[in-house]
Amino acid sequence: TTVEWEAESYDMGGHDTYMHKEIHEQVDAVDRVLRGRIDDRFATVRLGGLNLDAREARGVRRVKILGCGSAYHTGLIGAQLIEELARIPADAEPASEFRYRNPVVDPDTLYIAVSQSGETYDTLAAVQELKRKGARVLGVVNVVGSAIARETDGGVYVHAGPEVCVVSTKCFTNTAVAFALLALHLGRIRDLSVADGKRIIAGLRKLPEQIAEVLRGEEEIEKLAAEYANAKSMMFVGRVRGYPVAREASLKLKEVSYVHAEAYPASELKHGPLALIEPEVPTVAVLPDDDLLEKNRATLEEIKARSGRILAVAHQEQEKADHTIVVPRNEAELDPILMGIPLQLLAYHTALALGRDIDKPRNLAKSVTVE
Ligand code: AGP
Repeated sequence: TTVEWEAESYDMGGHDTYMHKEIHEQVDAVDRVLRGRIDDRFATVRLGGLNLDAREARGVRRVKILGCGSAYHTGLIGAQLIEELARIPADAEPASEFRYRNPVVDPDTLYIAVSQSGETYDTLAAVQELKRKGARVLGVVNVVGSAIARETDGGVYVHAGPEVCVVSTKCFTNTAVAFALLALHLGRIRDLSVADGKRIIAGLRKLPEQIAEVLRGEEEIEKLAAEYANAKSMMFVGRVRGYPVAREASLKLKEVSYVHAEAYPASELKHGPLALIEPEVPTVAVLPDDDLLEKNRATLEEIKARSGRILAVAHQEQEKADHTIVVPRNEAELDPILMGIPLQLLAYHTALALGRDIDKPRNLAKSVTVE
């Protein structure tokens, strides 16, 4: 509740910045979003505030996720998880685009608004427009009792605790985990098997320790940040599960370090952005060990052939990359959750190396309550 948050105080707990503190809080935060929600007996999760019974859940034909900035990026992850685990067609769209384009509102679509603050004006306006048209809207929100939490029909609280830094880190990760819970819940009401439910639950339970493992690699990432901090621009690429990670990492770097960055699906490189590749424009490639690994390796070769430097985030050392940050393996569906974390540290240490005002980047506000 809000009261607990205040009691927790905004103490820096020995960290120099809130961003650093919040990155390190992710081990506990992920533990918190899982706590009390796993139902081992039925290989599913209990989401108390969802307000969507099994019959209604079975009637959902489509899922549309709306949010802004990092929240939108978690929506991209959420849509993939819902498609993979629940086999419901799902996509994500920036809330502002949605509300300005006079969307067709369909009664069999489940709409989900995502927001850390629960006060982002564009997201709230999208919710209000949807409600006016009779749609069912759920919220995936961090701040309890916020405007979006109040206006939605039900939802999942993210339980990341207070996030002070303008740049979202722990809330991003916790929201992605909350989407995994929602996808598992919808999946087990539909066609996800008990065995797959158990597999995902086991994967979720491994996350806190694996996050701690990634964070133990901070010193190495600090060195890499120093090496890449003077880049003219950075390219971030990934395919399918790696793509939202690339999008979010690119936003993170821009926001906090002011280094220009672009994010593309890896296969789009050859349709234009490859022209930017040169030694001063390094690429961060997100390559999970899934069925797209070979395709992703071919992308690394394309970049190398244009003398691009490559920093890979992968489950094993990548020969074509100049550096690889190795993250622990989990269930493939959960890869986006873990793979984003080293890139939060990369953004943080790049900003530090460049002497930026980490907790209050220029021109930005924590919560954008204007149009
Ligand atoms: C995240 O690092 C950003 N500061 C920003 O993109 C943010 O995610 C966005 O403004 C949405 O905020 P919300 O989650 O509070 O709705």
